[in-house]
Amino acid sequence: MSKQVISTPVIRRLPRYYRFLGDLELEKVERISSRELAARMGLSASQIRQDFNCFGGFGQQGYGYHVGELHEIIGRILGVHEQTGVILIGAGNLGKAIASHLDFDSRGCRLIGVFDSNPLLAGTSTHDLPIMPMETLDSFCAMHHPQVAVLCIPKDAAQQLADHLISLGIKGFWNFSHFDLKIASPDVIVENVHLGDSLMTLAYCMHSLGEDEENS
Ligand code: NAI
Repeated sequence: MSKQVISTPVIRRLPRYYRFLGDLELEKVERISSRELAARMGLSASQIRQDFNCFGGFGQQGYGYHVGELHEIIGRILGVHEQTGVILIGAGNLGKAIASHLDFDSRGCRLIGVFDSNPLLAGTSTHDLPIMPMETLDSFCAMHHPQVAVLCIPKDAAQQLADHLISLGIKGFWNFSHFDLKIASPDVIVENVHLGDSLMTLAYCMHSLGEDEENS
């Protein structure tokens, strides 16, 4: 498969394709046309064909897509078979929920360490991982070389901690801290997550739907 630059919107759709194809596999569906897949996913068939063409096609004329193969190929593109080491900083309400309920392993990541600055949390655990004091962060990173940090800390602490984590070798941040990190290095990736934005999008759509109904 030739390596080419893939646009961000396509990349953002890949996990969804992967999820739908996984469900189809569980339903024992062996092959599917772009039209059927589009109907299930609420996309257009041409969108799907265009997206898959970015990676070299996969489909066969008159046959459609082989669900298992496509699932495997997209999984490989997403790196789900990798075991990227992840640490989580901030074992409060959000951090514990993420550590306990998110299946890192099936997404190519392995949660290997949880840290918090609150001394009262040291010695307790979440998701079978001990919550470690921040004083042990440097030695842990030197020994285990995590690549990704999940930031579940207050926004005031985010930038300083991120800078320090980069110096310890962290290359990617899954940033829940509501702070827009300033990262000088182009080799470091930040994925910001704002659940509140998603809720506001829903609220806006419901609000504008109500307005449309009033005006019709
Ligand atoms: P929390 O107060 O329950 O937990 C925060 C934890 O971070 C505490 O255990 C605290 O000891 C620890 N902490 C604080 N400074 C630290 C530092 N410098 N190093 C290591 N640990 C540190 O708060 P909660 O509810 O878990 O929220 C955490 C953050 O996530 C907040 O900033 C909140 O605004 C944000 N948040 C973001 C969401 C999103 O969608 N992005 C959704 C919900 C919360």
